[in-house]
Amino acid sequence: MIKNTDIQQITDKHLDEIKNAVNRVVESGWYLLGEENRKFEENYASYIGTKYCIGVANGLDALYLILKAYIEMGKLHEGDEIIVPANTYIATILAISQNNLTPVLVEPDIQTYQIDPSKIEEHINPKTKGVMIVHLYGQCAYTDKIEAICKEYNLLLMEDNAQAHGCEFKGRKTGSLGHAAGHSFYPTKNMGALGDAGAVTTNDKELANLIRTLANYGSSKKYVFDYIGRNSRLDEIHAAVLNIKLKYIDQDNEHRKQVARYYIDNIKNPDISLPTVDDWSSHVFHIFPIRTSKRDSLQSYLERNGVQAMIHYPIPPHKQLCYKEWKEHSYPITEKIHNEELSLPMSPVLTASEYSKVVELINNYR
Ligand SMILES: Cc1ncc(COP(=O)(O)O)c(C=O)c1O
Repeated sequence: MIKNTDIQQITDKHLDEIKNAVNRVVESGWYLLGEENRKFEENYASYIGTKYCIGVANGLDALYLILKAYIEMGKLHEGDEIIVPANTYIATILAISQNNLTPVLVEPDIQTYQIDPSKIEEHINPKTKGVMIVHLYGQCAYTDKIEAICKEYNLLLMEDNAQAHGCEFKGRKTGSLGHAAGHSFYPTKNMGALGDAGAVTTNDKELANLIRTLANYGSSKKYVFDYIGRNSRLDEIHAAVLNIKLKYIDQDNEHRKQVARYYIDNIKNPDISLPTVDDWSSHVFHIFPIRTSKRDSLQSYLERNGVQAMIHYPIPPHKQLCYKEWKEHSYPITEKIHNEELSLPMSPVLTASEYSKVVELINNYR
């Protein structure tokens, strides 16, 4: 079976280095908030191009903590509205709701799958206080227009960079484009840990210090608690593994781009819509999304022929039970994407014989 993302093979690529790093942590006897963490935060901030990086337990916490910190700083208040793409992974929206803020869903662009900048302004009202863009599938969602809107209406601009480590906008990395960004290092991500892990990047010192405190039970001094915080820290083992993964992220993304280029140049089936990348943008192909009205039968055909294709995502957020109050809302573009999207195998370890087999199967599919 050609897996969608073969995590074992991705780990095997640097197995000795990873084992050495894990052993080093095990033998150090220091498992939390130590030297590996300090190094990773420094390395990742420098890679992304921000002054600060705070390692946290996962990507959802990273987004939650950004919003929570803005509430503690008095920049956001309960009930404030945060604009977010309607077709994002649920975690972006959960982070907003869990802070008693109101997510306002905006349709994506059908070509790029990113939030449609031309539809943001119509959702702005006096309660709107922020925009959370999501670099979905690995493509940059930031545009000059979004930046201009946020400046004009004095909105916080936050990035969900869970799927786009290494992606750029005009030479600047995603994760450094807004006021703050949340990153996930879930194992299948472009830069994955060996379990859950995440980070926040920002240039805002007050925000960075507050997030560090909130992620440590609300404490900046041992046994003194200034906030009702949570426990969300990046384990030393994950930080050590991420220090290795960071060395290879650009090389891994280059491989992903090469696979994507092959798919784009060689898939000729007229029933398939291929992803597009705008000139100003970049794409690190966390996944390779195609669209077709025959999605489910194409997926079964590929499965029968030894190729695992996945759906990102089968049910849109507004149709989920946890947001039943939105079930009558209509987001036709989002629904179309959820009904037609299929992710072809994509990873830094996919071989030429594997991705050419995928193309051959798709071109032969009627
Ligand atoms: C777009 C997006 N946001 C947030 C998250 C949450 O990250 P995590 O799984 O590390 O909590 C994910 C990944 O799962 C994601 O894909």
